[in-house]
Amino acid sequence: LKIGVIGVPMDLGQNRRGVDMGPSAIRYAGLLSRLEALGHEVKDFGDITIERRTEEEVSPGLKNLSQVIKANDLLRMKVEAIEEEGYYPLVLGGDHSIAIGTLAGVTKDRKNLGVIWYDAHGDLNTSETSPSGNIHGMPLAVSLGLGDESLTSIGGFAPKIKPEHIVIIGARSLDEGEKELIKEKGIKIFTMHEIDRIGMTRVMEEAIEYVKTNTDGVHLSLDLDGLDPNDAPGVGTPVLGGISYRESHLAMEMLAEAGILTSTEFVEVNPILDERNKTAEVAVALMGSLFGEKLL
Ligand code: ARG
Ligand code: MN
Ligand code: MN
Ligand code: MN
Repeated sequence: LKIGVIGVPMDLGQNRRGVDMGPSAIRYAGLLSRLEALGHEVKDFGDITIERRTEEEVSPGLKNLSQVIKANDLLRMKVEAIEEEGYYPLVLGGDHSIAIGTLAGVTKDRKNLGVIWYDAHGDLNTSETSPSGNIHGMPLAVSLGLGDESLTSIGGFAPKIKPEHIVIIGARSLDEGEKELIKEKGIKIFTMHEIDRIGMTRVMEEAIEYVKTNTDGVHLSLDLDGLDPNDAPGVGTPVLGGISYRESHLAMEMLAEAGILTSTEFVEVNPILDERNKTAEVAVALMGSLFGEKLL
């Protein structure tokens, strides 16, 4: 595979500083050599330039809105360029608001993209339902065409994806508005309850079957807070009772075997909140499995 890595040192979609260092931490944990060792041709496209945080709050329900828009529009263009050069986009975050730009880029020529949202959260808020005003809690809604037009219109079209092409895995913290939206749109979701009840093997078998049906590509958006905070402590919004490191490896291996993914992003690695870069190392280990690593 030709893999194009792009870093997005972005922390403006949430309150806690440090997640902008995620791409450096992931590279430092050995991402490029790990993927090259698997025989892939890896090209590092560097990092997107992110504007500084400004003090004045222009839009309180949507924090740092103008900078988030600019960053995501740059990312969208970069992702499109990476695909045009024949590379598989591998996006490193940065907070999860960057999924807005990634999805805008990869849906330019895919009108029926499947999406696997591996996360403790639904990220289905709009400025009306968000308890925080943090845009990292909104990217899945934005990609469905819901929320502020300045965000949904990035790339010049909306929606980017359809509710019936999404599967959420690992959810254990949903706001009221998100729960309503999941019901209203009939979004497929495997919460921690289902993972405990039927096991990760069946969850992934069903999820893979679901997202490959009637789609023209599949994107994996992996928020490290989907994992249990014991295994991935370096995240800004940890929630107890998450997916284990082992279950996550299994999930990545099953995705590798299925061969359905066309793009991937790993987000929310926050080295300041981490323990000796453990979370970035976990991210790299999982990417190893995702891109074909096997013991024997
Ligand atoms: N639901 C909460 C909010 O809207 C938390 C979102 C956390 N999102 C994330 N990508 N970590 O603020
Ligand atoms: Mn999350
Ligand atoms: Mn998220
Ligand atoms: Mn478990």
